[in-house]
Amino acid sequence: MLYGEENKAKLRSMAFGYGSKEKGSVIPKYRLNEESIDPDAAKALIENQLLDEGNSRLNMATFCQTYMEKQAVELMAETLDKNAIDKSEYPQTAELENRCVNILARLWNAPKNSDYLGTSTVGSSEACMLAGMAMKFRWRDKAKKRGFDYKAKNPNLVMSSAYQVCWEKFCVYWDVDLRVVPVTKNNMTLDLDTVMDYVDEYTIGIVGIMGTTYTGEYDDIKALDELVRKYNDEHQGGHELVIHIDGASGGMFTPFTEPDLLWDFRLDNVVSISTSGHKYGLTYPGVGWVVWRSKEYLPSELIFEVSYLGGQMPTMAINFSRSASQIVGQYYNFLRFGRQGYSHIHLKTQEIATLIADRIEHTGLFELYNEGSRMPIVCYKLKENAKYKDGTEVVWNLYDLSDRLRMHGWQVPAYSLPDGAEEVTVQRVVCRADLTFNLAEAFVMDFRECLDDLKKAHVLCNEEKTGSYGYTH
Ligand SMILES: Cc1ncc(COP(=O)(O)O)c(C=O)c1O
Repeated sequence: MLYGEENKAKLRSMAFGYGSKEKGSVIPKYRLNEESIDPDAAKALIENQLLDEGNSRLNMATFCQTYMEKQAVELMAETLDKNAIDKSEYPQTAELENRCVNILARLWNAPKNSDYLGTSTVGSSEACMLAGMAMKFRWRDKAKKRGFDYKAKNPNLVMSSAYQVCWEKFCVYWDVDLRVVPVTKNNMTLDLDTVMDYVDEYTIGIVGIMGTTYTGEYDDIKALDELVRKYNDEHQGGHELVIHIDGASGGMFTPFTEPDLLWDFRLDNVVSISTSGHKYGLTYPGVGWVVWRSKEYLPSELIFEVSYLGGQMPTMAINFSRSASQIVGQYYNFLRFGRQGYSHIHLKTQEIATLIADRIEHTGLFELYNEGSRMPIVCYKLKENAKYKDGTEVVWNLYDLSDRLRMHGWQVPAYSLPDGAEEVTVQRVVCRADLTFNLAEAFVMDFRECLDDLKKAHVLCNEEKTGSYGYTH
């Protein structure tokens, strides 16, 4: 907003209660108002501003939680005033965070008696940043010790091209080269046949993704661990390769739905795991977590002391002040649901995802990338030369379908796949705990109706686009 233009941008306070002092008054939008206004009036104005925004429950684009129980919300509202960093002032809150870290470390099968440690964060991005820094600092410390010329070139980090943008940020912020193993349209996960070609002595680690942002698939971490084991055996006393797991969405899903799947600290070379508590941890944004399998993998330079009950307590988060309410909300969920509750909720979500996938496949127009039987993500592309059952050719694209669904209130993004498969456009439906069977049925009905409408449509607006169309979470 340019100076001068602000006068044009005024809040018309027609929303105020009839007869209120503010009724009819005009308040600047981009400049602080001179006089205070009534709290109810302020609330009403803001509510009105937000009124026509998308309904978060119908937002199929996001992995982020859009529902929490009333009791959790009350608890979170009651604890908004607590600053999570003030461990001394709020020792019981610090204890709840500590419990959450322990619960996660156990959920991820940290070795018995290991000195694992971890922290809450604002989300997976901060958690990945910390894990990346730990890998970089440890790699450098070890390289220094063995007299390796670690300054000769930038260190690098290896992962599939289906990575989330937080890793690009990490690499830019920390002068690390991002070495990307391209996915293909037939394999949207880390290519195990070629991944080791990207590794050299400057590699700080490999990131395995449990639930890629694009299709929700899992990298094969067990097979990756085997490759890393072989590499480390061959380089004994030299460069050591480690794995970080980006479990933004899978980290709090898989332990409940596929407890026997080997992807976590049961694998020796997995040294750290991050997750978003606000995805399948079922807490409102923003809370994330990162856990290291042992102190050895978190260099001491990254640990800072804050005062705690007259003593000191280690912290490693990047952020300093933030409300403790998300941590409290996360702990509420752990306490309230327990293992059985989480399993029940996640399995039900999976069932709903497979139902939606089945209905979408049944139309005969789409090819599925993910049918929701692992992560509850339904991801599909239009079949080549797709035809309706009566032989009518499909002349629309997934961006048109996305627009149509939006007319019914559903937000379902269309986007192109990452490097290696960028010519493919897909659409993704992220199922979450609050997508009930009724809501899923309503979605399927609207979806079919959109397909019928598009068959008859005379005007189609969208050309195929490249890029993720803004949906990267
Ligand atoms: C695989 C992956 N990593 C990291 C992130 C970043 O998570 P957050 O939004 O919690 O920072 C996401 C977000 O969707 C993700 O899917």
